[in-house]
Amino acid sequence: MTLQVRQIRKEFITRSGSLPVLCGIDLDLDSDKSLAIMGQSGSGKSTFLHVLGGLDKPSSGKILLDGLDPLAMSETDLAHYRNQKVGFVFQDHHLLPQCTVLENVLLPSLLGAMPKNEVIQLAKDLLARVGLENRMDHMPSELSGGERQRAAVARALIMRPRLLLADEPTGNLDKRNAENIMRLLLKLHEEEKNILIVVTHSVDLAKLFPRVMAMDDGILAEALSSN
Ligand SMILES: Nc1ncnc2c1ncn2[C@@H]1O[C@H](COP(=O)(O)OP(=O)(O)O)[C@@H](O)[C@H]1O
Ligand SMILES: [Mg+2]
Repeated sequence: MTLQVRQIRKEFITRSGSLPVLCGIDLDLDSDKSLAIMGQSGSGKSTFLHVLGGLDKPSSGKILLDGLDPLAMSETDLAHYRNQKVGFVFQDHHLLPQCTVLENVLLPSLLGAMPKNEVIQLAKDLLARVGLENRMDHMPSELSGGERQRAAVARALIMRPRLLLADEPTGNLDKRNAENIMRLLLKLHEEEKNILIVVTHSVDLAKLFPRVMAMDDGILAEALSSN
């Protein structure tokens, strides 16, 4: 198993007391597997992805990714983990408006030690693979919504992360673009052989995945697959 999640619990401390959001989550995923997570708003999906990606700490539990334990890391090591092992795609593209598409894709590599020529070539290859070979020098404002999300996908992959997390990546897109982005994520996941976890509200899009789980009030369970 490459991703092992054991008994992850998370409570937020709020003014009205402790709010349990993740209530003991277990998950095992092999290195080349993908998973769709569905569930009502407020059920804990984003919190779970943030914990997996090292953006937030759980109250208790264990995570191992390729034998690495992000919960035992120093802040510096955790920053490296986030940068090198995890790719994130959000509902909003989060591209920097003042940078070109190519510069945006290169941003995560600025922290690393990859040779510049190599990383520029990798960024161009990724942009070609997401169908933006003719948009590299565009500004984000000069792209369509679907194209912006493609650029965000390329940026998430520039460090060749072992774990690709996407939190409602198609939430702002029309049906056709949403399906295109989801198929693109799955294609790149197969090519890169990474672990892909996608949160989606769409039953149709979840059906594209070999495994679907449901988050219900902080509990993650296998969903009855219709495949
Ligand atoms: N930083 C926070 N402080 C307090 N409560 C939070 C915080 N972040 C999320 N929550 C609460 O945790 C619950 C789960 O949120 P979230 O993981 O974003 O759900 P989902 O992504 O499934 O819609 C919600 O009730 C939300 O209000
Ligand atoms: Mg959410």
